[in-house]
Amino acid sequence: MNISKFVTPEIIFGRDALSQIGESAARLGASKVFVVSDAGVIAAGWIEPALNYLRAAGLDTEVFSQLTTNPKDHEVSAGVEKYLAAGCDAIVAVGGGSPTDVAKAIALLVTNGGSLRDYEGINRIVRPLPPMVIAPTTAGAGSEVSQFAIIVDTERRLKMSIISKSLIPDIAIVDPELLRTKDAGLAAATGMDALTHAIESFVSLAATPLTDMHALKAIELTARSLLRAVQDRNDMEANTDMALASMIAGIAFSNAILGATHAMTHQVDGLIDKHHGETNAAILPHVMAFNLSACPDKFRRIALAMGASVDALSTERAASKAIDMVKELIGAIGLAKGLAQIGLSSQDIPQLSRNAVKDACLVTNPRSAVVADIEALFRQAL
Ligand SMILES: [Fe+2]
Repeated sequence: MNISKFVTPEIIFGRDALSQIGESAARLGASKVFVVSDAGVIAAGWIEPALNYLRAAGLDTEVFSQLTTNPKDHEVSAGVEKYLAAGCDAIVAVGGGSPTDVAKAIALLVTNGGSLRDYEGINRIVRPLPPMVIAPTTAGAGSEVSQFAIIVDTERRLKMSIISKSLIPDIAIVDPELLRTKDAGLAAATGMDALTHAIESFVSLAATPLTDMHALKAIELTARSLLRAVQDRNDMEANTDMALASMIAGIAFSNAILGATHAMTHQVDGLIDKHHGETNAAILPHVMAFNLSACPDKFRRIALAMGASVDALSTERAASKAIDMVKELIGAIGLAKGLAQIGLSSQDIPQLSRNAVKDACLVTNPRSAVVADIEALFRQAL
């Protein structure tokens, strides 16, 4: 029997879970907390209650919010300087995947030193990080439970994947109430990211029974509730489903890694500042079609999890139904766009393809892919 490892943080889940943020940071030994967020989250009104809970727990705070979507290496450097100058000893993020990944990258550099490139790839962090508490305000990235931090290297214009157990936050506070304030477009894009995490980790070469159960449940919840969450931002049943889906898809991919879709989107996102979920939507169906022959039964189970009746179908027919259903969902939530519409030029494809085959996420793709395969997939997705 193969041996597998499975890691998750402590998870506090449910409506009003944000109220636990102060007590959570305090019991990790924090005294001055570096709070990472962004302008959108601050405007949505979530930073004030978080700061109040932290202060009520007797903690000092320092807020850092100078960051963008697809967060950049220089934004992390600015955060590191501010953290050290303020004498902080713990990190809290209140925000989506971008503030969370910036918080993780700052935590990494303040105790390990050097530059982010020193840690690109798998298991290169040696010293412990400061205590980390993450409260996501979007349902998609799953970064609150994952061992990933994805940061844009602005010189090379690509996303670096830093993967290490050290990047798993100590406590994830997942409060579906926080999802109310994101707009429909962001709900669609982030939800698509969650679905991509679930599908890629389910068919990953590193999948285990422990990751499969989380991935499949995330697929089921997304198929059931993403469209509803996009259509009605106050549908708390749908928001709760999506908060759970995003988190468990995060647990699945944190442990099983991802695949060719993410190896490709990491390159596009480094070049074009569009939401990562939109890039996933453009690429995922093509990668699924490419991968189908490697694991048709897994694709049949994806169709089943999405609610298809597959009993009367051959494995191949049922498997391709999974792709049809994903395309249908992408259309329904308004993300059916090619990469050209997102802003990619065909001239960029050769370089992006050469970079994609070096991305750590490609290692676990169920079908091996060389540069020519990736180029063909980029052209299909254009
Ligand atoms: Fe992602």
